[in-house]
Amino acid sequence: MRTRVEIMNDFLAINVEPGKTIQDIVEASGSALPFGCRDGECGTCVVSIEQGMEYLSPMTAKEVKVLKEVLAGTTTEKSRLSCQMKVVKPNGLIRIKY
Ligand code: FES
Repeated sequence: MRTRVEIMNDFLAINVEPGKTIQDIVEASGSALPFGCRDGECGTCVVSIEQGMEYLSPMTAKEVKVLKEVLAGTTTEKSRLSCQMKVVKPNGLIRIKY
């Protein structure tokens, strides 16, 4: 019933229950993925979801705004903010690159 979260740059893989935030997972794993404000305002924690977007919570309003305005021109349809996402479904695979 867990979903596997892989942080590709750090060769880390963690199996988590739905409801966990990506920020919590990253911090518990020892990943070097950087954070700034931790509140969806600075864009420091931007990542690319290489697989498993459907296992993540929808974008928050703050996330949409930062991706569109602060990070304009540097994002793709795979871009998300780590501090705004959580795992929402079991039995999946999420692959994150930063
Ligand atoms: S840490 Fe600032 S937007 Fe995520």
